[in-house]
Amino acid sequence: MMSLQIATLCGYLLGSIPFGLVLTRIAGLGDIRKIGSGNIGATNVLRTGNKFLALLTLIGDVGKGAAAVLLFTHYVSAEAGIFAGGAAVVGHMLPVWLRFKGGKGVATTLGTLIAVNWIMGLVAAATWLVMALIFRISSLSALIAMIAAPIAAFVITNDPGAGWLAIFLAVIVWAAHHANIRRLIKGEEPKIGQKKKDEV
Ligand code: G3P
Repeated sequence: MMSLQIATLCGYLLGSIPFGLVLTRIAGLGDIRKIGSGNIGATNVLRTGNKFLALLTLIGDVGKGAAAVLLFTHYVSAEAGIFAGGAAVVGHMLPVWLRFKGGKGVATTLGTLIAVNWIMGLVAAATWLVMALIFRISSLSALIAMIAAPIAAFVITNDPGAGWLAIFLAVIVWAAHHANIRRLIKGEEPKIGQKKKDEV
C-alpha cells in the first residue's frame, strides 16, 4: 500500500516538470502562458513558431509519463506503474510549482498509455495523428484519441487495469479542455500551428 502512495507521489513530481515553460524560457521566448492558448504544452509552444522547441516539449511531456510508468512497473509492480502514470498526468495538469495551473495532459497521457499497454497507446497516438491529418485541430484530435484509448484497452487487448486508467485519464483530459470544447462548438478553435485571431 505504501508503495502505491510513493509511486503516486513520485509520478506526480515527475509529471509536474513543466517542459514547455522551462524550454521556452531557456530559449528566451518569454512566458508560454502568455502566448496563444496559454497552455504549457507542445501545441502552444508550436505557436511561437519554434518547431524544434515544440518537438522537445512533446518528447519531454510524453517521456515523463512513460518514465513514471516504466520505472515503477520495473522496480515495484504493474499496479504501481499505473498509479505513477496516472499521477504524472495529474502532476502535469496541476503542478505545485505553478500554483496548480498546468497543462492539458495530452502528451503525458499518451506517454503513460504507451508504457502501460503499448497497443492501447499506439491506438490513441494513431487516432490523434489521423484526426490531426484530417481536421488539423490538436484539441479535437486529442479528445477523440482519449475515447479511442479505453475502447482499445477493453476491446482489443482485454486489459481492464489499462482500460480503467484510460477512462480516468480521458475524463480529466476532457475536463481540462473545457475552453477548447467551447471554441470547437463555436468553430473558433485554431488549426495546428495557427495563432489565435486576436494575436499578431
Ligand atoms: O495538447 C493540448 C491540446 O489538445 C490543446 O492545446 O494550446 O490548443 O489549447 P491548445
